[in-house]
Amino acid sequence: MTEPDIKKGLAGVVVDYTAISKVNPETNSLLYRGYPVQELAATQPFEAVAYLLWHGELPSEVQLAQLEATERSYRPLPADVRAAIDLVPLDAHPMDEVRTAVSLIGARDLAGTGSVLDVSGNAEENLARSIRLFAVLPAIVAYGQRRRRGQQPVAPRDDLGYAANFLWMTFGEEADDIVVDAFNRSMILYAEHSFNASTFTGRVIASTLSDLYSAVVGAIGALKGPLHGGANEAVLHIFDEIGSAENVGPWLDEALSQKRKIMGFGHRVYKRGDSRVPTMKAALDTLVEHYDRPDVAALYDTLESEFVARKGIYPNLDYPSGPAYNLMGFDTLTFTPLFVAARVTGWTAHIMEQLSSNALIRPLSEYNGPAERHIEGYVADAATVAATERAEESEG
Ligand code: COA
Repeated sequence: MTEPDIKKGLAGVVVDYTAISKVNPETNSLLYRGYPVQELAATQPFEAVAYLLWHGELPSEVQLAQLEATERSYRPLPADVRAAIDLVPLDAHPMDEVRTAVSLIGARDLAGTGSVLDVSGNAEENLARSIRLFAVLPAIVAYGQRRRRGQQPVAPRDDLGYAANFLWMTFGEEADDIVVDAFNRSMILYAEHSFNASTFTGRVIASTLSDLYSAVVGAIGALKGPLHGGANEAVLHIFDEIGSAENVGPWLDEALSQKRKIMGFGHRVYKRGDSRVPTMKAALDTLVEHYDRPDVAALYDTLESEFVARKGIYPNLDYPSGPAYNLMGFDTLTFTPLFVAARVTGWTAHIMEQLSSNALIRPLSEYNGPAERHIEGYVADAATVAATERAEESEG
């Protein structure tokens, strides 16, 4: 018997085409619909990048204004969604809150849909669903952080762009331009990354002709794991453990002797550095200066240089974004929900792309469990014997 060629973790397997983004580990580049992500991060509001991911082109002024108007109209936190969030225990992980909120929004939106045959929606409906989710997620994430701090939600502001309004709803005060810019960049950098685990999860669910909301809920579940989106949170836990730059050496000795994974380093695709890191690191540098926190930069730089020197494994986007979100004032537990708010654009673009040329995603496996065996004393009844014989005759 020949051994099957199993690609554990689907590593190196190309499963489909995508026109949404291109990750090139050779050149350390990431393109969204052809545009280098660092150029988008430096020049575009997040709303324009969402439009690009969904439509394939950057918006004209009129198109951007239309998207902004729709996005602003769906910003407020619906009362039933707030009530559902309030049912989630305060000490549950906020990703569970976000997942529950999206699930409720989906159930409400699809209420009245006659049967499962009607849920996958047409392209226009799915784009509208995507925009609504994109618009409301900041209110969900912001409220999550506020309720954990014993605060009431803050109503959105129509006069602010996506990033500025997100910060406004979270902190109840207008953020400085430097902070808005860093936050906007982080959203753009997190928006899309080809067939990563959560996006692929979303595509698998969409491929069954389930609905877009179910696909996003599944993607949120996949993103929560520390090997994926949860890493930005995990980086801050590590920073808290280490404390300050001078502790890095002994901390790393101990961590590596225990064969611990150092969160925020390594990547399945990039092996020589993550293309998004320099842009986010530059944003982190501006925040370090803005908040006058050289200690954060010292810890960041020391851990990076020591870890790279010892293991030759480079930081990924979560490494600079974790401390950046911390400096902005986000609670550590809110970091992965921020990733959801950004990545929902990429997820929904992929769900729509999957549906536009769908094939059910269903790989094979090689069985390595016990050989066939039988329940002692089992005798098939006459109806089963007859049905089995008929099936064998029709197969034969
Ligand atoms: N810290 C310590 N060792 C690491 C490491 C890390 N962050 N990332 C990879 N390695 C080591 C592994 O231990 C393994 O060593 P071994 O061959 O001696 O067993 C080797 O590098 C290959 O790692 P592996 O986990 O098999 O590679 P992968 O392609 O499956 O992993 C990640 C990619 C992202 C899962 C992995 O790098 C990781 O767990 N990183 C930390 C979590 C993280 O930051 N995730 C966010 C990704 S954007």
